[in-house]
Amino acid sequence: MKILIATSKPFAPVAVEQIRKVFETEGYDLALLENYQDTSELLTAVADADALIVRSDLVNASVIDAAKQLRIVVRAGAGYDNIDLNACSERKVVAMNTPGQNANAVAELAFEMMLYQARGGFAGKTGTELRGKTMGLHGFGNVARCMARIAEGFGMTVSAYDPFISDEVFSEYNVKKCESIEKLYTSSQYVSLHMPANEKTKGSVGYNLLSGMPEDAVLINTARKEVINEEALLKIFEDRPDFKYLSDVAPDCSSQIAGKYPGRFIFTLKKMGAQTEEANINAGIAAARQIVDYFKTGNEQFRLNK
Ligand code: 3PG
Repeated sequence: MKILIATSKPFAPVAVEQIRKVFETEGYDLALLENYQDTSELLTAVADADALIVRSDLVNASVIDAAKQLRIVVRAGAGYDNIDLNACSERKVVAMNTPGQNANAVAELAFEMMLYQARGGFAGKTGTELRGKTMGLHGFGNVARCMARIAEGFGMTVSAYDPFISDEVFSEYNVKKCESIEKLYTSSQYVSLHMPANEKTKGSVGYNLLSGMPEDAVLINTARKEVINEEALLKIFEDRPDFKYLSDVAPDCSSQIAGKYPGRFIFTLKKMGAQTEEANINAGIAAARQIVDYFKTGNEQFRLNK
């Protein structure tokens, strides 16, 4: 059995070591393709793999076609907008993700950006505190729930909007349920995005929502840059000198923002949310175990495609 880990943004070595142990115990071979620059390298490496582990690496129809022996691909992480699920289904390849495994790391990054922004980039000027401020979570999945716990610790008032989550979960996390998305934005100084990028959500955070935010609005995006309507983003930057945008990673229009609105944004250079040793270990090991479990018992608990 050959397992390929293909990561253009590699896992921490300590995580790779632990993943290797999981496969060694089973007698599976592990191949690594790290830091690759071109998809052609992935097409070659995947040719004889029975299982594939990726992060945000693109797994499109040509990758699936090149992987003649592939039976399972696991996205070590939450968002699977990089995987062509239809192509997987057509070739009878099982696709999975590892939800929740890197959620704490992403939530911590959101707060790191918020604190850095609130203290003016540690440049000596008087800043503000998080305590007593309002936090709105757009989406209430694993990352948002970690956000809720941390925000509570900071003494923030937390509400969330997510029509797919039961009332019990909101109560468990002591988070006020917002019945409308507009209400979430008008009642939260800080709004943090936690929805997947799909046909429904892409470009869905637009001018109407953003312009309704209270004074000193801060939008935090550790989800996907595509969920923002960038025309609206540029307009709100222009109309509202109090508006700030903290994003992992930069929007396509970042050069227009960087030149004009210094001090009002943070854009990470690479997607940093899951870049901790702990997140790499958790997501990587979960992916490895899911593969072993699938081959040994047929367990499809985290299957994404039909
Ligand atoms: C995820 O969807 O799990 C996060 O965005 C992390 O992505 P990454 O593994 O590419 O850093």
